[in-house]
Amino acid sequence: MPGGLGLGMSKQPFLSDIQALRARARQHVEQGAVTAGYKADRDVVVKLLNEALATEIVCVLRYRRHHFMAAGIHAEPVAAEFLQHANEEQAHADLIAQRIVQLGGEPNFSPEGLLMRSHAEYVEGETLIDMIREDLVAERIAIDSYREMIGYLRSDDPTTGRMLEGILAMEEEHADDLKSLLEHLGT
Ligand SMILES: [Fe+2]
Ligand SMILES: [Fe+2]
Repeated sequence: MPGGLGLGMSKQPFLSDIQALRARARQHVEQGAVTAGYKADRDVVVKLLNEALATEIVCVLRYRRHHFMAAGIHAEPVAAEFLQHANEEQAHADLIAQRIVQLGGEPNFSPEGLLMRSHAEYVEGETLIDMIREDLVAERIAIDSYREMIGYLRSDDPTTGRMLEGILAMEEEHADDLKSLLEHLGT
């Protein structure tokens, strides 16, 4: 039984013995938020989060490029949508970096190998339609990879799981926005 749980009695079916819990919390205090009850493989989670971080950074860069290029071809509402998405991807990147540090890891912001770590691609796109379509493809990649990560984490790291669920919901909104833009533009 993990962590010396349970006294073999049904009176305490769920919570650890409080003394044992306190003693465990005192050991390894340097690990901060990561306690003995943390069930996931931390190295794997940090690696997955760094891939998600790279994905978000690539999405920030691609959306910003699209924002300025769309503005150049006088597609102001679309340009505004790209900027909003870019800023939201940046917020996701920040949340993920913060969680990596909480888990005792280091967020990888290195431009070297960024595209290799990212799930999504950086496609510039020739026309406005190309840009929107490429962004939609990237969102769909992000949606699938976040869904997979959430499935992997499940009960082992519910905090990271919840954070990713929030991000996933926003990626789904982004994909929906882009689909509407494509429909609006008659494609
Ligand atoms: Fe994102
Ligand atoms: Fe997104």
